Parts: sequence; C-alpha cells; structure tokens
Amino acid sequence: MARVLPHGDMEKIVSLSKRRGFIFQSSEIYGGLGSTWDYGPLGVELKRNVKDAWWRSVIIERDDMVGLDAAILMHPRVWEASGHVENFSDPLVECKSCNRRFRSDQLESDNCPECGGEFTEARRFNLMFHTFMGPVEDTSHEVFLRPETAQGIFVNFANVVNSTRKKIPFGIAQIGKSFRNEITPGNFTFRTREFEQMEAEFFVKPGTDESWLMKWVKDRFDWYISYGIRQENLRLRRHDPDELAHYAKDTYDIEYRFPWGWGELEGIADRTDFDLRRHAEFSGEDLTYFDDESKERYTPYVIEPSGGVDRATLAFWLDSYDEEEDGNATRVVLHLHRKLAPVTVALLPLSRNERLASTALGIYDLLRKHFNTQFDDAQSIGRRYRRQDEIGTPYCVTVDFDTLDDQQVTIRDRDTMYQVRIPVAQLVEVLQDKIEHGW
Ligand code: GAP
Repeated sequence: MARVLPHGDMEKIVSLSKRRGFIFQSSEIYGGLGSTWDYGPLGVELKRNVKDAWWRSVIIERDDMVGLDAAILMHPRVWEASGHVENFSDPLVECKSCNRRFRSDQLESDNCPECGGEFTEARRFNLMFHTFMGPVEDTSHEVFLRPETAQGIFVNFANVVNSTRKKIPFGIAQIGKSFRNEITPGNFTFRTREFEQMEAEFFVKPGTDESWLMKWVKDRFDWYISYGIRQENLRLRRHDPDELAHYAKDTYDIEYRFPWGWGELEGIADRTDFDLRRHAEFSGEDLTYFDDESKERYTPYVIEPSGGVDRATLAFWLDSYDEEEDGNATRVVLHLHRKLAPVTVALLPLSRNERLASTALGIYDLLRKHFNTQFDDAQSIGRRYRRQDEIGTPYCVTVDFDTLDDQQVTIRDRDTMYQVRIPVAQLVEVLQDKIEHGW
C-alpha cells in the first residue's frame, strides 16, 4: 500500500512516544539525565522484537553462527590490547567564553556555534566510562564499562572453538549494552551514552575475508528491507581510507535517512586478524586455529557486522509512521512489520454489554497464550481502531452480538483495513498464518 509520508517526522514520533508509552526521558521526575532514555511498555516490546528478529536471522536461521552473552566489565588489559585505551577518543575543544564543549571534527566554523567565542586547542578525550572494582578507588582497581560488545567475543574465541567444535568459517554473536561518554549525544535515541549493540564476529580464513565482507553487507542490508524499511531511505556507504577505525581494513556503513539527514545504523567491517593477534600478544594465550581441511595453522580474519539496537528500533519506527486522509480526519498509522509491532493483536468487544463480556474475555485468554494481545473496550469501535493503528497493531479482532450465535469473529487488517469473518476455532491458526505470510 502506497505511503503518504516519504519518511517519519521526529517531532510527531517524540510526542507519540510520550503519550502512548514508547520512550520516556530517564529520571524525568528529577529533571532528566542528559541523553538517557527509558523504554516504556510499548517501546520495550518493539525493541525486544527488533532484537529477536536479529537473533533469528543472524544465529537461529544459520548453521555457522552461535550466540554468547559476555560480561560488561572485563579485565582492563582487554582495552589495552584492543587499542581502546590508546585510540578510542574524539578531539575535544572548549569555548573560552561560554565553556561549552564540542567535538572539533563536527564543527563547521572556527568559532563557538553558541556564542561565537574562541576555542581552546583540541585535546583527545577518551570515550570510555570507568569505575572501580571493589572498595578501593585507585588506578590498580580501575575497570571500564565496555564501549563495544565485540571484545567479549574475541576473548572467548578459544572457549567457543573448544566447546562447540565449530569449524571456520563460523561466527559468534551477541546483544548487549555498551557505554560511551559521547561529547555530543543527541537526536533522541540516535546517539546516547548508554545503548545496546547487536554484534557478530565472523571468523574466516585469511584471503577469503573480502568475499565474506560483501556477503555480510548484502545480508545485513536485506534484513532492514525485509523488516519494512523502504529501500529509498536506506543506503550503503563505504568508508574512506582516512575514516577507517584503527582495526579495520575496509568498512561499509548501512545508513538510514533520518529526519536530520543520513545516519549510520550499522557498520560491517573487515577487522583482519587485528583483535585475535593483539589478545594473543597481551594474554600470552594461543589464539590461532588449526584448519583440518588445509592442514594449516593461522590467525583467523574477522568480518564484523555491528549494529545499534536503539538506532535500528528508531529507524523501523520512524519509517513506519504515516498519516492518511480519512474523511474529515487523519488516520495516524504505524506500518510496522507484523513481527516488530509491540502489540500483535487487539481484542475489541463491540460494546461493554454484559452478554459480550464473558465471550470476549474467553477469546482474550486464548489469544494471550499465543500473541502479545491487548484488550480494549473503552469508547467507540472507530476510536479503538485508531488507537491500535497509532501504535502499529497489525490485527484487530472484533467480537459482536453475532459471535454469540455463530461463534465467529472479525479480523481487521491495519494496512488495508480489510475485514474477514472467521470461526473462533480457527482464529489462532489464521492469525499465525497471517503473521508468517502477511495479509
Ligand atoms: N564493534 C564495532 C563498533 O562498535 P561502531 O560503529 O562504533 O562499531 C556500532 O558502533 C554501532 O553501534 C553503530 O552503527 C550504531 O548503530 C551503534 N552505536 C554506536 N555508538 C552509539 C551511540 N553513542 N548511541 C547509540 N548507538 C550507537
């Protein structure tokens, strides 16, 4: 179905977010904490569905991937080996007049954009958050909150090979929180200091890395399309040599057309053998791999698709937002993919009449065992459809007085607004089929 709006509108999404319970400002009753956000009852379901869709596509549906859930706190030497202590920094300047701080590489002029003042010389500012392990607060007890989940995978490479007997090419993936003390966070959940990443490290034989990189780039790009992002709002951008991270030989970013411009959703990098070699060097452990087929021993190369959960969630959400003319009114609708929508089915008794109540509640109990289901019997049926459209619920099931006689209910499709009447006995099966294959 053709959409009206070319892409989402940030102001409208932010207002819908608070009103319907997608995302709230963190610690709001205390005035909020800069750039931190809490996912409300609908937001948490949407985000969980994004993570599930990723986990299914990257791990469950492949036989060359396994999962992991590594700790956030890691041995401090990890971050020396990974290069983060030395390299994970941004150039910071401070305005001599208003004392505001900026990333100098993001400034368009030599003077402060707030007050026109002069800047100090740029200095490197390391983005890692640090804290202390145990009750003694000195540098020997200092630990870092991980700035990427990837290192938890590299340090477990030998554990996974030995415990699963996986053969190269194979990969390890995980989803988890990462922390970066960003100098200029902003654009809602796009750039925050605490966020979630979904990362895979795919280990390959050196020399095969370039073709594996292109396979992963295609798979990951297609994943965003398959879950509903419009092709014209997605693009691939290869890094220039001077913007490559310290570990990367080549990188492609998947970018989304956010309301403020193109922004990165995910980077797919060829990290070579940089990380395994460095961890072998710093830990003294052997992290090479013996290839049974070629009878060679080598340090594997790594292809890394690394995406942000919060950014992907925001992009799916923004891209789904639409406003359609509906008589004299406007129908606000989120065309979220049916597997991402926070509520899958809404159960709507036509009225609050007592005769409908027990039948409707019985069907609600049945549906809840299979789908994330909401019950709504307040106000007119038209208003209730609109409330569900606005949060992207793909299917509404209506129970009316005929249901009491013919044991049938009406299913309404969010996007086309078509309705079909089917027996209650087939309801779960029909909905499961629609969720799998579409209307
Ligand atoms: N392990 C590689 C790595 O971390 P990255 O490009 O720095 O690469 C990967 O981060 C993804 O994590 C980004 O594409 C983005 O989606 C997400 N991300 C990074 N910094 C973020 C931030 N401050 N807020 C929200 N998401 C962020």
